[in-house]
Amino acid sequence: MSQSQVKTAVITGAAGGIGKELARRLAERKLNLVLVDLNEEAIHAVIQELGLDASNALAVRADVSKEEDVQNYVNQAVAKFGTIDYFANNAGIEGPSGLVEELNVKSLDLVYNVNVRGVFLGLQYVIPVMKKQKSGAILNTSSLAGLMGAPGMSPYIMSKHAVIGLTRVTANELAPFGIRVNAVLPGTINTQMMRNIEQNSGSADDFKAANEAATPMGRYGESQEVAAVMNFLLSEEASFVTASLYTVDGGMMG
Ligand code: NAI
Repeated sequence: MSQSQVKTAVITGAAGGIGKELARRLAERKLNLVLVDLNEEAIHAVIQELGLDASNALAVRADVSKEEDVQNYVNQAVAKFGTIDYFANNAGIEGPSGLVEELNVKSLDLVYNVNVRGVFLGLQYVIPVMKKQKSGAILNTSSLAGLMGAPGMSPYIMSKHAVIGLTRVTANELAPFGIRVNAVLPGTINTQMMRNIEQNSGSADDFKAANEAATPMGRYGESQEVAAVMNFLLSEEASFVTASLYTVDGGMMG
């Protein structure tokens, strides 16, 4: 396959639990990968772990909430590989927890900046590239929190509801251009983010036990199990799938 036929994927939050496993799946498909994260050292570690090199991978340090950083990762992706065929708009933070009346409004700004503004900006800069190509697939990482009202995490929950709204709007806006947009909604997944949430909950063990009990499959999911679904949505196998919300939650929502 000539280099011009090789498809290119951009993943944000690529150094995190889910992002890294998605990178692994896409690397198995021999795609060109643009790995974007706040933590540059960790992206380079992923590139090394996956056996990638400068011919098929590009590491870009970016804060997805900063417009100039987003413009830069998109420009760098296009300059190096010519196209963006798949976009995993995945970076996110959990933010502080607390009841609505107790939270400082700054915690809303903090979470919204990354989880909503970051996702919105990614779409703003990637969409024109895909429109020019008249093809592409975008996958936003929402959460089961985008469908639920679990107490104590209003900024995160609001942000993930917003990601679902953005997914639906852009799926409708982009369908005529041959571009699909979907959202993945993980349940409780074994990553650093879940460790942080457990620590903030007061009793990590109780939090974990309660979540496992609320999950029909009785356990946390693994990043690989989310990445498998993401890999499908970011492939031609999902050619008639758009505006869809894919829960990967061990039955929690059922
Ligand atoms: P993680 O904490 O392992 O990875 C998140 C990655 O995003 C980290 O590498 C971090 O450096 C990066 N990041 C954070 N802020 C950033 C910013 N401003 N700019 C660029 N990169 C930034 O967490 P995980 O679990 O892999 O999360 C990935 C996505 O999955 C997030 O959107 C999260 O909200 C979502 N999710 C996770 C669930 C879980 O149980 N772990 C459940 C539902 C959704």
